[in-house]
Amino acid sequence: MIPPKTVQDILETTRIEEVVEDFVALRKRGINLIGLCPFHNEKTPSFNVNPTRNIFKCFGCGKGGDAVTFLIEHEHFTYPEALRWLARKYGIEIEEVVRTPEQIAEQQITESLYIVNDFALQHFQEQLFDTDEGKSVALSYFKKRGLREETIRSFGLGYAPDIRDLLLRRAKATGHSIDLLQQLGLCSQDQNRDFFRGRVMFAIHNLSGKVTAFAGRTMSTEKTVPKYINSPETAIYVKNKILYGAFQAKKAIRQKDECILVEGYMDVISLHQEGIENVVASSGTSLTEGQLQLIKRNTGQLKILYDGDPAGIKAALRGLDLALEQDLNVKIVLLPEGEDPDSYVQKIGREAFQEYIDREAKDFILFKTELLLADTKGDPVKRAGLIKDIVGSIALIPDPIKRSVYLRECSGALEVSETALVEECNKLITQGLRKRADREARKPGAASDTPGVATHDFPSHEPMWEPPVEDGKDFKTLNNNEQEREIVKILIRYGDQNLTEEVSVAYFILSDIDESIDAFENDLYRMIVSECNERLSKNEMINADYFLNHESKRIKDLALDLLFDRFEGDYSSNWEEKLNMPLQYQKTIALNFDLATRSALNHFKKHKIANMMSINAERIKNAELNGDIDGFTNYVKIQMKLKEAAGRIAKLTGTVVL
Ligand code: CTP
Ligand code: MN
Repeated sequence: MIPPKTVQDILETTRIEEVVEDFVALRKRGINLIGLCPFHNEKTPSFNVNPTRNIFKCFGCGKGGDAVTFLIEHEHFTYPEALRWLARKYGIEIEEVVRTPEQIAEQQITESLYIVNDFALQHFQEQLFDTDEGKSVALSYFKKRGLREETIRSFGLGYAPDIRDLLLRRAKATGHSIDLLQQLGLCSQDQNRDFFRGRVMFAIHNLSGKVTAFAGRTMSTEKTVPKYINSPETAIYVKNKILYGAFQAKKAIRQKDECILVEGYMDVISLHQEGIENVVASSGTSLTEGQLQLIKRNTGQLKILYDGDPAGIKAALRGLDLALEQDLNVKIVLLPEGEDPDSYVQKIGREAFQEYIDREAKDFILFKTELLLADTKGDPVKRAGLIKDIVGSIALIPDPIKRSVYLRECSGALEVSETALVEECNKLITQGLRKRADREARKPGAASDTPGVATHDFPSHEPMWEPPVEDGKDFKTLNNNEQEREIVKILIRYGDQNLTEEVSVAYFILSDIDESIDAFENDLYRMIVSECNERLSKNEMINADYFLNHESKRIKDLALDLLFDRFEGDYSSNWEEKLNMPLQYQKTIALNFDLATRSALNHFKKHKIANMMSINAERIKNAELNGDIDGFTNYVKIQMKLKEAAGRIAKLTGTVVL
């Protein structure tokens, strides 16, 4: 029991942003902070933290609450566990009652598993630091491998002597549950042998720094002995969601906005010791969706360091498509032959190492292209397969602009026309959309973020406002709503502000799209724009306050949403790309709405014209079929006008056309 007074203390001291920041990278957005929601898979941040009210809220999945709720949801803590965690974070003392074995047995199962792991860690550390054998055998091993004592301590390294049941006996003597010890894989099924014997030990932490598992490395060079043995999966150790070193690395990953991925435990520790702290390890296996999401929540940049032979690397690259789907920018660094990150950093030192990886980092797609290309010389069949393979990877990238840049570059490297690559890529995307739509149709009510499926098609965060998605519908049309949304956003946020002395933003926008309002596909957006138009004609205010107090709940909600502005990230990072307009001077939309507005409008019009052209093309075809000569000439004329208009706008937007 935690005394009520202490509970109150804890709750009053807790700052929501400080708690959330331990798990989610947050950026400032006005008085609030935003980040990628840890509760659902998303690519644009809809997760908001409000420090003034001490709460969080995700506009994508709807989860929200205070810091305790956050911990309960995120870490699967019980209420008391969450309070304890907070107490520890803020250095608030809880008078703990001494536990009897019975009380331990009554404890929540996960909490007690952690307690047993803590106990085991302490045991392994004692064996390492405080026994003669530990010092002479294990501590010296670590030191020989270049680790300093502080590193050894901060990574929870230890030693398990080659004694049959040392840990078991210690556990019994201190009243720890042997059943739990066994559940954690720390002893044999029959509970009479320790699992880790004669090995140096590595504690594996979860993101909040709790010990969830162990790995033990043999010190022998005997080939028949497995180098590492690892704890089994347990309630608190879900392998595919844990990255080794993530706890120690997460701060640095956010600060540097980059995650370095290596293979081994020793690589992580060694680099960290040298001051390269944004490093995690996949523990020798290929990355899982869960691990990638963990990375993605902290940064969009992933740099993978490979040692080893080309065959191994090729196999590893295959696993990386998942990273593309998560919209991570993946770079590959090959280490010199015979070196792994651990050996190499110790050999050349931090600075040279950092320089090396910066210099050698190659973009994943281009790296893959070059690597595979080397194999296909003069073999057209292999070559065709290679092209499919590469385009298959590119098709997984959610961002159309990035895709088109890759297609262009690869067309050069592969000596294939860009058009052919674009066609192939679009085909794959359409297939992907179909498959996805099929799959979703088959399981009604299923979550939209099905793992392993490219998610660049439908923005999952605003299902309410998207028109029903038809099978294989072209994503270009879907993007259209983004433009509509941008326009509405600009109207709501800046409608009243002045572009020039006489012209307000609203006036500028509305006079320009007056005739296209009916062409808005999304009815909610259309409603808002027409209402703005009406208000403008009556000289009434068009601003955030008005829409925030709107009588329609849908409009009110949307206004709130647009003001919280999950798309700001798009603005500062992708907007420039999306609208292909260099934002040379100011980085905020408020200072730059002139440019932003024009750009949004041009893009909006471009899409509208493209739509009109395809409708008109259909008319031309029909007229021809029906022998309607007048209609035919008329429509052809219209088509030419449209084409001219499209050309003008294309010049203004300079868009990459897919
Ligand atoms: N690994 C494992 N079991 C093995 C071998 C390897 O779980 N039998 C995992 C470990 O997570 C290891 C990683 O694969 O860290 C990479 O293997 P390796 O490069 O051989 O290990 P290092 O960590 O580099 O260890 P060392 O430098 O001590 O050889
Ligand atoms: Mn190694």
